[in-house]
Amino acid sequence: MTTNREPIGVIGTGYVGLVTAAGFAELGNDVYCIDIDEAKIEGLKQGKMPIWEPGLSELVERHRSRLHFSTDLADALEHARLLFVAVGTPPTYSGDADLSAVHAVVESMPASDHHALVMKSTVPVGTGETIQRAFAEQAKGFRYVSCPEFLKEGSAIKDFLEPDRVVVGDEGDWAGDAVVELYAPLDAPLVRTDIKSAEMVKLASNAFLATKISFINEIANVCEETGADVVEVARGMGLDNRIGPKFLQAGIGFGGSCFPKDVTALKQLAGNSGYHFQLLNSVIEVNELQKRRVIAKLEKHLGRLVDKQIALLGLAFKPNTDDMREASSLVLSSRLQAAGAHVRAYDPVAEGEARKLIRGVRFAESAADAVDGADAVVLVTEWPEFAELDLAALAGAMRGDLLVDGRNLYDPAAVRAAGLVYEGIGRGG
Ligand code: UGA
Repeated sequence: MTTNREPIGVIGTGYVGLVTAAGFAELGNDVYCIDIDEAKIEGLKQGKMPIWEPGLSELVERHRSRLHFSTDLADALEHARLLFVAVGTPPTYSGDADLSAVHAVVESMPASDHHALVMKSTVPVGTGETIQRAFAEQAKGFRYVSCPEFLKEGSAIKDFLEPDRVVVGDEGDWAGDAVVELYAPLDAPLVRTDIKSAEMVKLASNAFLATKISFINEIANVCEETGADVVEVARGMGLDNRIGPKFLQAGIGFGGSCFPKDVTALKQLAGNSGYHFQLLNSVIEVNELQKRRVIAKLEKHLGRLVDKQIALLGLAFKPNTDDMREASSLVLSSRLQAAGAHVRAYDPVAEGEARKLIRGVRFAESAADAVDGADAVVLVTEWPEFAELDLAALAGAMRGDLLVDGRNLYDPAAVRAAGLVYEGIGRGG
């Protein structure tokens, strides 16, 4: 697997860039990783990871000799003809993707007819065309390939090495062939298509998954009114092959750096092209309301929340990551404080990131520390260690007896047997 692998460049050593670089190093490629952030590059040279992702630092460590970190683009240009672009495309105030980092990379490319940009960053449909036009106008000769990324935080290495599919959008030229060749050892289904369609696959996939979550969250809300249990409903629905069991976990809403951003970006993209994407408006709105429903559940049992002690278990937008971007805990903690409650929170990994974004919350050292003396406990992120909690001990340590299970992690009967009042998401009336 390691013979004659072509060296590649990766521009941007954030989440996608680093995982891509480490993944290709595992496949035997030399990878030239470029970032404008000197501190980050220095850290990486010393084996310091800028993000927390299971298995990533071990992989980087194992392939140190193949991974070259630099702030100088020339290092990548000299050794590699394929330059993967993995820079951030955060949302602007209006919801459109901010492409300034992408355009800065494009601008920094010299004229060359033996290099290609391979776009990993999530960009609006039409970005590839705009970049190709810029290359043509400046007679740069660069080729362009769209190769969207589908990895999930927390299982990114596995997602890289065992992808459901590889999507390559290009003009049927050497660059597209070379990207297909790079991914060949993974033996994944390949979708080779035009650039715009590849760009759309990415946005549409994320928007569809987000829609699935908002859909099951609304079913959960109806279950609460009708006495059905959404966990049972999702089990029954998921066995239908056309529906599938994944992304049918009701909860307190989706977060992260991708779904909220990409759903909004697709809605905006449609709007900018003159099409009103009705469904996506609702997906976003349902998600916002879902985060707030926890407050109503607490008030149902505790009345006014003034001076109530509320413990939050988990802060990250999902388990196995320290990522706090668009995490439901952000809305929840600020709403609770606005209602006069005292919030104590514990997350096994995300506390450092959370401290940058959340004010007024007391950070606890353990789950036991967080729940001590609490009137209610809210399970926000389903970290495996929370599934193992001794519920009787938790009940004993609390002042009150309410457990709001925001991710339907627990068996309601077991919670009740421990002497607690159980409130899940969509679990009966
Ligand atoms: C998502 C996609 O799943 C990846 O395929 C994609 O590559 C990535 O975005 C991206 O565009 O970069 P990620 O944001 O890492 O990956 O996280 P997910 O595992 O998809 O979870 C997103 C959110 O949905 C989390 O807040 C999670 O708690 C929530 N979720 C997920 C639910 O509420 N219910 C579910 O059934 C599944």
